[in-house]
Amino acid sequence: MRKIAVAMAKGGVGKTTTAVTLAHGLAMTGATVVLVDCDTQGQAAGFLGVKPPHGVYEFVTGENRKGEPVSKNSALFPARDNLWLLAGGMGLVELKHRLGEYPRDQRHAVLASALVPKGDGLDYLIFDCAPGWDVLSVNVLMAADEVLCPVAMQAPSLEGLKVFFSYLLSAQKQNPALRLKYVLPTLFDRRTRHSPEVLGQLKKRFARQMCAPIGYNTGLSEAAARGQTIFELRPGAVSAEGYRLLVRKVIEDGKNQETHS
Ligand SMILES: Nc1ncnc2c1ncn2[C@@H]1O[C@H](COP(=O)(O)OP(=O)(O)OP(=O)(O)O)[C@@H](O)[C@H]1O
Ligand SMILES: [Mg+2]
Repeated sequence: MRKIAVAMAKGGVGKTTTAVTLAHGLAMTGATVVLVDCDTQGQAAGFLGVKPPHGVYEFVTGENRKGEPVSKNSALFPARDNLWLLAGGMGLVELKHRLGEYPRDQRHAVLASALVPKGDGLDYLIFDCAPGWDVLSVNVLMAADEVLCPVAMQAPSLEGLKVFFSYLLSAQKQNPALRLKYVLPTLFDRRTRHSPEVLGQLKKRFARQMCAPIGYNTGLSEAAARGQTIFELRPGAVSAEGYRLLVRKVIEDGKNQETHS
């Protein structure tokens, strides 16, 4: 099973769009995928047009917000063929409080251990991270093996990246298996001076991790507003092609990992 965290400290860079689209794209190839929304905004459900009654809170604690028992399986919401959602949302505020009550040396591994038994028969766990950095972000980076970092093609985004890398380094001390695997340029707009400039700088710095850029495309926000992915609303859009390339790259890397292991 691959465990990929879509993470970046900066807000509004396309994390949720990427996590949802990648998860759906992988599921469309026949892979079994669980998308884990780790943001109190809980936007992944809306982007997929579903309203799960339960989510990460119930999955991790085994109970609903009234304290009644809830099975792990009922927290997993079928969002598309082969794709299940563990929804985020306000329940995560309470979950973060609870995590804070764990002993220091245990609180960062709670999500990882809650997810472990679900690994059977599952091909991908995709985590949609919140912006910023808190106990839940650390939990995600303890549960994941790979990080996909979306970077908006605007001038200050490289600054944001430096901050995020300092977080990543501290997470790697606790989870040495964690790798920055993909750097995905988003909101790329060829007509601006910034986008090609920032892309050039990124390519120099992250030659190995670079993915083909996702262009600026209003179709992506339109799709999210309608609760559809770009593959459903506009499969012919350039951004849909961009995300298909990402899906293919992720799958190919998996095959290479298998042949080298
Ligand atoms: N390539 C793109 N072109 C145009 N709009 C985009 C693109 N990618 C994402 N968007 C839009 O930008 C907004 C922010 O995207 P998204 O919610 O995916 O970012 P985020 O990093 O998850 O934000 P947050 O940090 O708040 O969680 C959304 O309205 C989304 O539809
Ligand atoms: Mg988001």
